[in-house]
Amino acid sequence: MRISDNKIEEIRIAANIVDVISEYVQLRKRGKNYIGLCPFHSEKTPSFTVSEEKQIFNCFGCHKGGNVYKFLMEYEKISFIESVQELAQRYGVNIEVDEETTGKQSEQEILYDINTETAKYFSNNLLNSSEAEIAREYFQKRKIKPQTMRSFGLGYAFPSWDHFVNYAQDKKIDLERAISLGLIGQSNDGRLYDKFSGRIIFPIFSPNGRVVAFAGRIIEKKENSAKYLNSPESLIYVKGRILYGLSHSKDEIRKLDKAILVEGYMDLISLHQSGIKNVVAVSGTALTEEQVQLLSRYTKNVVLLFDADTAGIKASMRSIELLLKKDMEIKIASLPSGEDPDSFVNNFGREKFEEIIKKAQNFLEYQTEFYSNQGMFEDPSKTAEAIRELVKPVSIINDELKRSLLIKSIAKKFNLREKLLENELDKAIQSFGKQITNEERIRDKELIKKQLEAKLQKDRKISPREIRLEKEILKLLFEGKTEIVGFVFSQISPEEFLTEEHAKLAEIVYEAYKNNEEIIAASLIEKISDEKLQSFVLNLTFDKYSISRNWEDIYPGLPHEKILQKIAVDTVKRFRTEKINFEIKNNFRLIESATEEEERFELMKLNHELEKEKQKLNLNISIE
Ligand code: GTP
Ligand code: MN
Repeated sequence: MRISDNKIEEIRIAANIVDVISEYVQLRKRGKNYIGLCPFHSEKTPSFTVSEEKQIFNCFGCHKGGNVYKFLMEYEKISFIESVQELAQRYGVNIEVDEETTGKQSEQEILYDINTETAKYFSNNLLNSSEAEIAREYFQKRKIKPQTMRSFGLGYAFPSWDHFVNYAQDKKIDLERAISLGLIGQSNDGRLYDKFSGRIIFPIFSPNGRVVAFAGRIIEKKENSAKYLNSPESLIYVKGRILYGLSHSKDEIRKLDKAILVEGYMDLISLHQSGIKNVVAVSGTALTEEQVQLLSRYTKNVVLLFDADTAGIKASMRSIELLLKKDMEIKIASLPSGEDPDSFVNNFGREKFEEIIKKAQNFLEYQTEFYSNQGMFEDPSKTAEAIRELVKPVSIINDELKRSLLIKSIAKKFNLREKLLENELDKAIQSFGKQITNEERIRDKELIKKQLEAKLQKDRKISPREIRLEKEILKLLFEGKTEIVGFVFSQISPEEFLTEEHAKLAEIVYEAYKNNEEIIAASLIEKISDEKLQSFVLNLTFDKYSISRNWEDIYPGLPHEKILQKIAVDTVKRFRTEKINFEIKNNFRLIESATEEEERFELMKLNHELEKEKQKLNLNISIE
């Protein structure tokens, strides 16, 4: 699918980069920019910067940067076109798809379509087929209402060898792709068969509500067959990146600023049906870092509600550390033994369930209670081990005050010596801190090496001063002010830049200016094909020493526009002066080596002219 450049620009303008990134990263305003912790590498002090004015982001730590599309591509690991589509959808910009003129559908789109078609088939079976009585009875027994079945797209796969295979053939669904999506299997003799046959079906949705996979549950317990069967991973389904139910729950999670994390599909569906809609399910796998990241877009507050069996407790313990790393606030709720969220809410109702959630403990209480129940605090040799385990997750918390409050509360509750806990905590923090700095040190070293190499490659004949000036001019060109750009090009032409990279960049801005296009960094960067040049521009435009900083001190209270004008005039003057100085110097060299008196005289005269021109620069260069 091809989307026109105009559309791409229209969508980019509709999607303010600060709003978009705020959904993923907590941003704070600092000066004209916003800063936050970089989502692309682990860091404790923010080096991730977003410019609202220029509509670009840049990380000074890991050097990822670009416009809003680039952010989504990196963050969601999606293609450029997908990022455009996603933002178009979010911001209600209509991208008309005319397949004949726009060319082929992407592979992902084809797979989504197959899954959508298949989900309809399963759902239609369940809701309308006389052969699905057994499945409807099953759901009735589990107190699932038809309305709920519809809203979660629940379905049924007939207990046949090839009912779906035939359906797919009828509907011209590509069978190879259906196989790759795990809908159809192929036996050794080449025969195709239905993968989910005889199971009730739970479509699994992406956060945007597209069907990426299916889970099928057996209706009657059989020996050697798994209770749940899941689609394999595919181009559109990466298990660890999906939270079941998120598409249904995300609005409520945001509204209540809290998410309840459960284990199973049925848990989530029953809670929804009873009106508790801020729920997501990990469904089967251990919680992953990517799932936490995904959830953290919507809230920082999570209540873990895993089964009270040992597997559930283990899963909670593992998840706690992961959640803490992402600065989530965690609470842990426990159900009476033998109950899971689905059975509990069906047996006791919504209010009782909400009481359970209200009584959720902080994670440290939960863990301490767990060790205490195991008798570890009665045996001195085990106490030390338990305490070490306890403080490990505390050491991950960044907030010092929060840490010490937690330690205090634990010491009190379990009658442990506070000092003992603090000592262990210090040790844990130290070893945790060491890991980080080592990591950072290696990264820094690599960076310095890269910078050195880059320096060596630079043309020796160009002075650092000239490079600095060219950069300052480029910085002005990427400030996004047409008036400034026009002024610069009235005095300097792109070919005058001495390094190839600088000249190329100036040329790009010049072209855009000539064609009356928008000259905001966010759209200019789209025209730079070379990644190195892209990141060069990002660094330039996000330079820590913003070009107007000193000037704001010199002219306090002057509006930004005016300051920029002053800077532009000053920089262009210095640029021109530098050019003249170079010529003068060059002429002097020629004078020294000149053999003819007349030649010497001509060169002297030339330099005299140049000196005069230099003095006139002050009068001749101005904006207006
Ligand atoms: P119901 O028995 O239908 O209420 O499901 P449940 O969610 O209570 O099942 P259980 O507690 O046994 O498992 C919790 C979650 O683990 C399920 O929702 C599934 O996501 C996953 N799971 C359980 N059994 C299997 C299995 O055999 N295979 C796979 N892939 N996942 C399973
Ligand atoms: Mn259950």
